[in-house]
Amino acid sequence: MFRRSSRPRLTVAATASTYLASLLAVTVAVPATGRQEATAEPLVGPPSDDLPTTSANPATAAMARIQLARADAAPWAPGKAPGASVDCQKVKCVALTFDDGPAPGTTTVLDVLDQYGVPATFYVLGSRVDRYPDIIQRIADEGHEIGNHSHAHRDLASLSTTDVVESLESTNASVVAAIGEEPPTMRPPYGSHDATVDSVAGAPIVLWDVDTLDWKHKDPSETLRIVKEQTGPGSIILMHDIHDATVAAVAPVVQHLVDEGYVLVTISDLLESQEPQNGHQYSHLSVHLDGDGNSPHLAAG
Ligand code: NI
Repeated sequence: MFRRSSRPRLTVAATASTYLASLLAVTVAVPATGRQEATAEPLVGPPSDDLPTTSANPATAAMARIQLARADAAPWAPGKAPGASVDCQKVKCVALTFDDGPAPGTTTVLDVLDQYGVPATFYVLGSRVDRYPDIIQRIADEGHEIGNHSHAHRDLASLSTTDVVESLESTNASVVAAIGEEPPTMRPPYGSHDATVDSVAGAPIVLWDVDTLDWKHKDPSETLRIVKEQTGPGSIILMHDIHDATVAAVAPVVQHLVDEGYVLVTISDLLESQEPQNGHQYSHLSVHLDGDGNSPHLAAG
């Protein structure tokens, strides 16, 4: 089964109130045109007129709203609640994914994501979950998604069926022990899987369509260049939070995506319209295109 997070998303601790995302809207000040009603996805947190100046770029405006909501309404899941309401067939979505952690540098990645108020998905190794349970807890607490990247990063296609099952199930168990939920998707190390792996995966198999090769060149500017060159609506971007150079690339990458009008979402939110099946492979969201190769739904950006 493909399951979505059941974590509460909209509780505002300061007032002990709960806000319904579907009923919320705020006003955004736009320099060129004065005030205008913020549109698109609902907002978490109390409505306010006291928003910072922002540009007319909808994504930038959305970011300002998100950041304001966070300031007023901690704690809530950054990005998760806005993302949960996004229809990725209608807006430009992209999913950032970080593999092979958690590692000490993951906390810096989380800090950056928190500053931007955007979610990501972390494909974690069971062996490292056991070592860094606090980081796993923080990933979940801050509204990000956790995926299963096996226990010890062996090539699953080279293992016996029993060993594949053991590697995936022990990782699921480690994540459950840390946060109380199983990862909704899995990603095989090296993207390597075969019919045996597919049959016992027990979750949708999530690969990527933008490979930053960050582990190889260890150059933040090269990571950014590849993201700029290869990302499109529905893309899944592969990075590795165990490398310092990748940690350094997160802010420029997120800034670029936001500037280009992308809405960052978790893998579950990205693929929701696809109704992903266990053992099936997904490398991006297929956005429905018209005859000219453009999406009739996607806003220019
Ligand atoms: Ni990996």
